[in-house]
Amino acid sequence: MAEKRFSLPQVLRKMLTLKNMDDAIANAQKGGLEKTLGVWDLIILGVGAIIGSGIFAIVGIAAAGSADGSSPGAGPALVISMVIAAIACIFSALCYSEFATMIPIAGGAYAYTFATLGEFAAWIIGWILMLEYAIGFIAVACAWTNHFVQFMKGFSNILPAWLTNPPLWLVDDYRSAVTAYTAQGIDYHSAIPHILGVPFCINLPAIIMIALITAILVKGTKDSAKMAGIMVAVKIGVIALFVLTGAFYVKPANWVPFAPNGFEGIFMGAFIIFFAYIGFDAIATAAEECKNPQKDLPIGILGSLAATTVVYVLVALVLTGMQKTTGGVIPEGLIKAPMAFAMSVVHQNWVAGLISIGSLAGLTSVLLVMHMAATRVLYAMSRDNFLPSVFQKLHPKFNTPHILTITVGVVGILGTLILDLNVATSLCNFGTFTSFIIVCVAILILRKVDPDRPRPFKVPFCPWFPLAGIVCCGGLMIFSMMVAKGDTARLSTEMFIVWVIMGALIYASYGYQKNRRIERLAEEKEIAVEDGKVEYINK
Ligand code: ALA
Repeated sequence: MAEKRFSLPQVLRKMLTLKNMDDAIANAQKGGLEKTLGVWDLIILGVGAIIGSGIFAIVGIAAAGSADGSSPGAGPALVISMVIAAIACIFSALCYSEFATMIPIAGGAYAYTFATLGEFAAWIIGWILMLEYAIGFIAVACAWTNHFVQFMKGFSNILPAWLTNPPLWLVDDYRSAVTAYTAQGIDYHSAIPHILGVPFCINLPAIIMIALITAILVKGTKDSAKMAGIMVAVKIGVIALFVLTGAFYVKPANWVPFAPNGFEGIFMGAFIIFFAYIGFDAIATAAEECKNPQKDLPIGILGSLAATTVVYVLVALVLTGMQKTTGGVIPEGLIKAPMAFAMSVVHQNWVAGLISIGSLAGLTSVLLVMHMAATRVLYAMSRDNFLPSVFQKLHPKFNTPHILTITVGVVGILGTLILDLNVATSLCNFGTFTSFIIVCVAILILRKVDPDRPRPFKVPFCPWFPLAGIVCCGGLMIFSMMVAKGDTARLSTEMFIVWVIMGALIYASYGYQKNRRIERLAEEKEIAVEDGKVEYINK
């Protein structure tokens, strides 16, 4: 039978189709996800997702600037950048809290958008959330390699050179390897091997790590939650060690000049270090698994954000106080593994070693949470017919969405071949800023169109706080697009735009069509749809 044709206004109306919130909440309440998480679990989950490559790696770029000169460093004013980024997050975190208590269903920003702005916006936000979780996952995997390489250097006396000082083409993507070889005055054509004329560059440690994380997640999330708990304790421990040991080596002279690159350095620093705060929103995606979401979710979201802000400010003060962070050639260690580097500069090599181990644990926990969040959002999108239903298939033995989990792993591995830490971080930031802005907009809309819905937690000073969230996130994003120079900035801005256009095209050619077909089949009583599951009646 030929598909029904719609007029343009009808198409637009369809694109604005809202998901019924009451049905979604009712389904979530009777749904299968076990409600096991209390407030402490949420804070641990939040800290597990938040503290990672941002503070263990990217903080060096935010302070000293990027090696290719695309962004100026904040210098000791990094501490101000940290606070600005935290403020941008706070407004969005309040909005997330209102949503998470009002609509405690899995899917986070994606689910909220479907309930307020409709089908098309939900698809786009889900697609953009992939920048946050899947591309962020690649950024963290790249940082993992940097730390691993730095860690192995410590064993140069006992291990063979190919392990402690591996060739760059084995630990970098092509673009980064070319930049690094050129900076060292090495001809990259002869340094990088070629296979059938194609240069061969792979980030092997990141690829192995992604494969391992994928295998763990296919096996089940219970073990991974336990592992994440241990890794959170380890990373908090090494950060405390860094702050307490480093405080003895702080020289106030290193804090002068305080802001060597003025406002430009401070705001670019805030844009870059924003990455370090990403993750509190992942708590909202676990709303369905909370024992008492109304009370615990806001405490979990805001508590983990507040705790990390304090930790980050202390790290920024100590790191920039221990050494000069701007002026002269930027040391590679400061960019790649700043805390461990700072400790080795003051000859606290054993602390540097412990920090490297702690960072690897910290980064691994973020990898786990990001991979899990990407899979969870894609699963929800597949349930809403935006993606092929094969992604909903559960593993017969482990009961996990294995096809989806492996797909995210493969995409991550392919991503490491073309993206480096800087580009992946910027792209992830663009995606997260956009999703935060949409959540703030959605709060404003819902207060107007559904004012009577019970709101156990309300954003104070509405509409000013959500508006402030929109201005802060939008402002930092536009500022970075205007200020950042060079290939990295251009590449990430272009990739972001291409990503959004690609999303719109995929929706038009797949998600929109599939949803209309399902509507038509449901109208003709050929299928029954319950809780996103499609059943063929006559089969
Ligand atoms: N906030 C997370 C990190 O810093 C994404 O790794």
